[in-house]
Amino acid sequence: MQSVSQFYMEPTRILITGAEGQIGQALVRLTRNDPHFSVTALSRRQMDITRREKVSEALAAELPDYVVNCAGFNRVDPAERNPQWAYEANQKGPALLAEICGDMSIPLLHLSSDYVFDGHYASGYTEADDAAPLGIYGDSKWQGEEQIRQQLPRHIILRVSWLFSDSGSNFLLKTLQQARSETRMVAADDRRGCPTSADDVARVLMAILQQLVNGAEAWGTYHYCGAEITTRYGFSEAILAAARQYEQLKVSELVPVSSKDLPDEAAERPASSVLKCSKLLNTFGIRQRPWRSELQRLVRELYESGRLEQAQSRGVGAGDADQVAEA
Ligand SMILES: NC(=O)c1ccc[n+]([C@@H]2O[C@H](COP(=O)([O-])OP(=O)(O)OC[C@H]3O[C@@H](n4cnc5c(N)ncnc54)[C@H](OP(=O)(O)O)[C@@H]3O)[C@@H](O)[C@H]2O)c1
Repeated sequence: MQSVSQFYMEPTRILITGAEGQIGQALVRLTRNDPHFSVTALSRRQMDITRREKVSEALAAELPDYVVNCAGFNRVDPAERNPQWAYEANQKGPALLAEICGDMSIPLLHLSSDYVFDGHYASGYTEADDAAPLGIYGDSKWQGEEQIRQQLPRHIILRVSWLFSDSGSNFLLKTLQQARSETRMVAADDRRGCPTSADDVARVLMAILQQLVNGAEAWGTYHYCGAEITTRYGFSEAILAAARQYEQLKVSELVPVSSKDLPDEAAERPASSVLKCSKLLNTFGIRQRPWRSELQRLVRELYESGRLEQAQSRGVGAGDADQVAEA
């Protein structure tokens, strides 16, 4: 007869970096009550991924089975003016993580972006398409990916696009803030992409992790985004429609414009941010979830919990496009 201890599995130890970001927080929420995982979530203050001694110390103390790097610098316009901010967080940090993870035989899961592409393929990009970043942010993400590929064979790079969540700077919160304070809004109808909720990305990361834990050796680069291509205008329309179920918004006019007519954007942005996700489906069996249902859920939660008021009184989601991650 087998003893109980033979059935007992040690939880898998995961170390999350950038744990106060959109995806970091979503991952922490998702894993909080999961007995199969033991999670150490480190904010930038607790572990700056660009500081060798901090990374070495944390990994030696925690001895994680996997590191999930949710840290990054995403503000595309400031990146043009201060490239070192982007390259530090998006190239140097991932390079250091890859080196130290390699020394300790720890696989690394890393997040990257559709901004590694030039955005010319309206129907979307596969993992086999050539990278051709248009600006500093995209280049820094591409350089970070390359560092990981060169140094650490046991890696997963997950490129995602158009993130939204109930925290941080993102298009959803920015749109809601504008819609409550302005009567007229504009949105680009020539930028295509697939909005993706941070919670959905967390689900995908955990589904990948579960399969790695069970022995899948499917290292490499993958794409994930929410199902259904739209434009920034289409996404704005959906956000306003969802919010109108809960309040009378101040905005009465949403105008589709060309991205050329948007106020000062220092960085050139891809016209198409569409990512094709069939490699993830064929390898891990992970399907795209419709972003519309994620949007409905998040907007409902924001209103019902009062967190929209809290987020906006803290100024979250406010500001110009300059301050909004990838918006
Ligand atoms: N946001 C998007 O639309 C989008 C789209 C595609 C891909 N991605 C990628 O997805 C990942 C996560 O994005 P996100 O939207 O969740 O980002 P986020 O909300 O901006 O969070 C990033 C977190 O990383 C932290 N951080 C920055 N530099 C760091 C450093 N040197 N060491 C440790 N932590 C550091 C930030 O801390 P501070 O706030 O204190 O700086 C922040 O908590 C990034 O790799 C990003 O490039 C994002």
